[in-house]
Amino acid sequence: MHKNILIIGASTGIGFEMTKLFALNKENTVIAISRNSESITDFENLDNVISKNIDLASLSLKTDLEQFLNSFPTIDYVVFNAGKLINKPFLELTEQEILASYNINVLSAFSVFQVVLPKMKNPNSHVVTISSMGAFQGSVKFSGLSSYSSSKAALTNLTEMLAEEFKDSNVKFNCLCLGAAQTKMLEQAFPGYQAPVSAEKMAEYIVDFTLKAHQWLNGKIIPVSLSTP
Ligand SMILES: NC(=O)c1ccc[n+]([C@@H]2O[C@H](COP(=O)([O-])OP(=O)(O)OC[C@H]3O[C@@H](n4cnc5c(N)ncnc54)[C@H](OP(=O)(O)O)[C@@H]3O)[C@@H](O)[C@H]2O)c1
Repeated sequence: MHKNILIIGASTGIGFEMTKLFALNKENTVIAISRNSESITDFENLDNVISKNIDLASLSLKTDLEQFLNSFPTIDYVVFNAGKLINKPFLELTEQEILASYNINVLSAFSVFQVVLPKMKNPNSHVVTISSMGAFQGSVKFSGLSSYSSSKAALTNLTEMLAEEFKDSNVKFNCLCLGAAQTKMLEQAFPGYQAPVSAEKMAEYIVDFTLKAHQWLNGKIIPVSLSTP
């Protein structure tokens, strides 16, 4: 059956791999949102991927998204995968850096979900948020990641809140707290570290989880990690 799948943060890393995997099923339409226009041209030869450049940090985010999604009356699955990592000692963080990480990692999720949730009318709709092990309660923490990990923790909590508020609707909400996967963001957080999991392998898990897990889970925060970090 045809499904509309929205991926927020699709241009690189795990989101890029997810977009290609979702698109393997030609019955799916994959709606791929990113800021970066260069890597998104890589989807041009996938005829069931519709990509759009929208900056999550833009003041016109809600309007931009509403206008673009006008032609999609229903959305079945959403993966909120975008993320902004700042790796800097706490005392050196600028206000701009703190705001930027909170803006991309959690505040933009409010806008995205306010636009998208009214379109999630089909039974068995599923929202998956992509958080981090650094935001998982009781996990090992790493210096320099205070704005990143604390903003991801807010996204994690927002997922639980939405699961409660929409528990009588068609939509389920779950959050995946990822461990290390080999991407440019990981290199920024832990320079030189080799993750045991590739971006593609992590994407495989998320795609499978998005399509199936809402049959059993709602409002769950799930660690997805083979290593520390
Ligand atoms: N890799 C890991 O080890 C790891 C571990 C824990 C959690 N995570 C989480 O997993 C997710 C994917 O991470 P990744 O490693 O694949 O990172 P990545 O390669 O840096 O990808 C991040 C994605 O977010 C998008 N994005 C960032 N700022 C944006 C903005 N202002 N507007 C629109 N899109 C924006 C990027 O698009 P542009 O390039 O176009 O800006 C890109 O598609 C992130 O949420 C990250 O926090 C990753």
